[in-house]
Parts: sequence; structure tokens; C-alpha cells
Amino acid sequence: MKKTLLSIAVAFGLSFGGSAAIAAGEGGKVENIKFSFDGPFGKFDQNQLQRGLQVYTEVCAACHGLRQVAFRNLSDAGGPGYNEDQVKAYAAENFEVFDAELDDFREAKPADKFPANDGVGAPDLSMMAKARAGFHGPAGLGINQLMYGIGGPEYIVALLTGYTGEEKTQAGVTLYENTAFPGGWISMAPPIDDELVEYADGHANDTYHISEDVAAFLMWTAEPKLMARKQLGFVSVLMLGLLAVLLWLTNKKIWAPIKRKD
Ligand code: HEC
Repeated sequence: MKKTLLSIAVAFGLSFGGSAAIAAGEGGKVENIKFSFDGPFGKFDQNQLQRGLQVYTEVCAACHGLRQVAFRNLSDAGGPGYNEDQVKAYAAENFEVFDAELDDFREAKPADKFPANDGVGAPDLSMMAKARAGFHGPAGLGINQLMYGIGGPEYIVALLTGYTGEEKTQAGVTLYENTAFPGGWISMAPPIDDELVEYADGHANDTYHISEDVAAFLMWTAEPKLMARKQLGFVSVLMLGLLAVLLWLTNKKIWAPIKRKD
């Protein structure tokens, strides 16, 4: 009975949940964004991942680590699509890591991970896009999550673009009003400004587009195998469908002589 009720509720949600604006849960306001990686056939957009990496490198890395990602992952299939030489140059140019054997810092190599950054108490961003759900859905049923994903990248965009300009000081700490951050006040100063980064591909670089690019990049760091997983899921559904048809036909055949009797 409980199950039936639940499936009715889910079906209800599916047929009426199609609007673009998402009601937020405990957090602030988060709206759905049409990312290239949404949906069952979604794929990361290589150029967008490259732009997002650039934003991370030039802006966020000053405060946030990315310690679960290795530089060489940047050349993995389905990722930002750099080749090994580019990864080598990127790591050496932008980051230093502490080498226990040398007992000193040295230029980063492809096999190293992005360094952690605990300097200002900013959380590591490797898994942030999965750690924060932007969508909660009516009654916490997760219906919107089923439709649009958990909304982690959307939450990051909402956070980066959600500053109202209001500030206050509390116990010596400056807090910035933000419509997406739970509680409404965050200690991270607005990190992005229009035209803060200059893109080589000429993509729009207003605050919103910069935020969208870095959010997509952080989705990739949190879930680099997303595309492979989706493909596997799709193939599984196909196989299950085929199996269902075969079982139905087998069932018909087995029962045919008995059914014919009456
Ligand atoms: C000047 C330092 C600084 C920079 C630069 C910075 N951040 Fe932060 N960030 C912080 C701090 C500090 C916090 C913790 C804020 C808090 O909990 O009040 C934080 C928190 C966050 C959070 C977590 C919010 C939550 O729900 O807990 C995200 C996501 C985030 N930053 C993304 C970014 C991105 C993306 C960039 C680059 C565009 C960036 N930050 C640049 C200092 C920084």
C-alpha cells in the first residue's frame, strides 16, 4: 500500500514537476540550469570544462583546494581534454606541492593531486557539487532531483551570483548577504566579477557565465565518470527491456497449451 502511494506520488511529481523554477528546501533560492551534462544522454562540454578550470586556477585556488583530483585526470576521456604535455605544463606553471622526500616544495607534476588549501578555512571543492543539493523538492521526496539531478552545480551558480551587496561584521568576521547560502550570510567575499577572467574562446565572461563554467567544472571534479555511468545505465535499461519482452514471449509459449484447453 505504501509503495502504491509512493508511486502515485512520484507519477504526480513527474507530470507536474516540469516547470523550470525549483522550490528550494532549507537553503536559499536555487533555479534549474540547462547544463550540457543533464539528462540521460548528457555530456560534459569540453570547452566549458576548460573555461571552468581556468576560473578555478585564476580565482578559486587562492582559497580552495581540490585535493581529490590529480593533474593527470585533466587528460582523462570525457574531461577537459588536455593532452599529457599540456597537463605537464599546466601543473608546473600553476602549482607547487610539498614533496616529503625533498622536504621542500617543488613544481607540481601530472601524478600529483591539486594541493589542499586550508589557509582561510575555505572548504575543499573536489566533491562540493555533490555534497550540496540545490533541489529538495516538495515534501523532500526528491522528485526534482529525479528530473534535474541533485542541483549541486545549480547551487554553486546560485551561490556565486546570489550576493545582495549587503555586508555586516560579526565577532570580527565580515559576512556577506547571499540568497543561496543557508542562513543567508556567508564569510566568502563575492569571488567573481564581470570580466574577471578573459577566455581564449571568446565565451561570455559576465559573472553569471563565469559561475556557470566553474560550476560545470566542479561537477566534473565530483563526478568525472558521469558520462560512462549514464551510458551504462542506458544500456542496462535497454537490456532489461529486451529481457522483459523475451520473458513475456516465453511465458505466453509455456502457458499456451494449457490456456487452449478452456
Ligand atoms: C578569498 C578566499 C576565497 C575565494 C577566492 C573563493 N572562496 Fe569560496 N569560500 C571561501 C570561504 C572562507 C568559504 C566558507 C564560507 C562560510 O562557510 O561562511 C567558502 C565557501 C565556498 C563554498 C561552500 C558554500 C557552502 O555551501 O558551504 C563554495 C561552493 C565556494 N566557496 C565556491 C567558490 C568558488 C567556485 C570560487 C571561485 C570562483 C571561490 N569559492 C573563491 C573563501 C573563498
